[in-house]
Amino acid sequence: MDTVKIGLLGAGTVGSGVIKVMRENAEEITKKTGAALEIKTVMVHNLNRNHPDITGCNVTDRFEDILEDPEISIVIELIGGIHPAKEYMLRAMQAGKHVVTANKDIVAEYGEELFETAQKNNVDFMFEASVGGGIPIILPLKESLTANRITEIMGIVNGTTNYMLSKMTKEGSCYSDVLKEAQEKGYAEADPTSDVEGLDAARKLAILASIAFNTRINFHDVAVEGITNITPEDIVYASQLGYVVKLLAIGRDCGEAGIDVRVHPVFLPKSHPLASVDGVYNAIFIRGNAIGEAMFYGRGAGSLPTASAVVADVINTVNDLRHSAIGRVTCTCYDEKKLCPLDDTVSSYYVRLLVDDEPGVLGTIATTFGNQGVSLLSVIQTRSVGNKAEIVAITHHVRHSAMEDAAKVLSGLHVVSEVRSVIRVENGEEG
Ligand code: HSE
Repeated sequence: MDTVKIGLLGAGTVGSGVIKVMRENAEEITKKTGAALEIKTVMVHNLNRNHPDITGCNVTDRFEDILEDPEISIVIELIGGIHPAKEYMLRAMQAGKHVVTANKDIVAEYGEELFETAQKNNVDFMFEASVGGGIPIILPLKESLTANRITEIMGIVNGTTNYMLSKMTKEGSCYSDVLKEAQEKGYAEADPTSDVEGLDAARKLAILASIAFNTRINFHDVAVEGITNITPEDIVYASQLGYVVKLLAIGRDCGEAGIDVRVHPVFLPKSHPLASVDGVYNAIFIRGNAIGEAMFYGRGAGSLPTASAVVADVINTVNDLRHSAIGRVTCTCYDEKKLCPLDDTVSSYYVRLLVDDEPGVLGTIATTFGNQGVSLLSVIQTRSVGNKAEIVAITHHVRHSAMEDAAKVLSGLHVVSEVRSVIRVENGEEG
């Protein structure tokens, strides 16, 4: 096995990073694999565009030039999106080629089909770069932590929203100003929906939770809420109460109650290891019954960090080939665990209300919470807004449905002008 030839689908930011890493580290990679890696053919969308990074490779806009080349044994898919990337990966596997991808959309929605196809055709299917960019997390979960029963996985897995929330926290700026700035800097896309509505994080959580809890979690199984309603006022209250606001992807194995998977903003205690993860950085915090707590931290996106994960997958595949160990790292969803319905999930909540500034109003609010089965940890009247008062309550652990009902009843009270915010508080109270 002297040279392993590779077909690369897509020559964008990550694709050029992959070529760069393979070229710069060629000598070390050969020492590690016993083979030289060669990107033989690159498939691009537009042949007329100048692609300076791919000199020395064949360039094509036909997938068949890679699929039908018997010399190419590994296909790297970096096109993104579902179609035609999914069909390309399936066809490559059916042709006996190993596949490495960074495509979270496909793994989060069609992981089962891809794994089955890989297994049927006796090829490797690797996707380390699909979550957390350069942070090693897929293989650590599948291999290094495999002795554990994982009970909790919590991550900051979207750099755009973490950058925005960090900026709002540091500068007191509002959501729309920070979004505009993030777009100008190229951190947020022109259409930021996938990031700010939590969809990108939900896809990544589906992948992580499937591996952590050994059961197939689809992207559509994840309850999602984005950061669009977070205000500077909430961030200030969070800080005064000892928290930071973060968009977290949370997966918990709640035993009999099922697997709880959700993405939403939370008040996180400043002392939590994830609380100090700022800017575009990502981190994934894991609780396992043997390791205890562990956290993986690093760059969640970008050309070279993501290429680091992609090229590692290629190196592992080459080593599997070398040691006749294809299929060694495979699907780990051997259980079928039920999902915990969102209504049954349990959290503490922060609730901010604008109410009439009159005697007895605080009592009415507390009684209404109580009548809905929501027990309060603390209630504070913080400031006056015109002739109204702003009240902030933190609840004990309550079921999601009870909190929703309470918010509905509260907003119907004549003394309540507005239920301004309802945000979960993580680790505000144990059990
Ligand atoms: N849009 C993602 C983020 C990076 O902001 O973290 C790609 O997954």
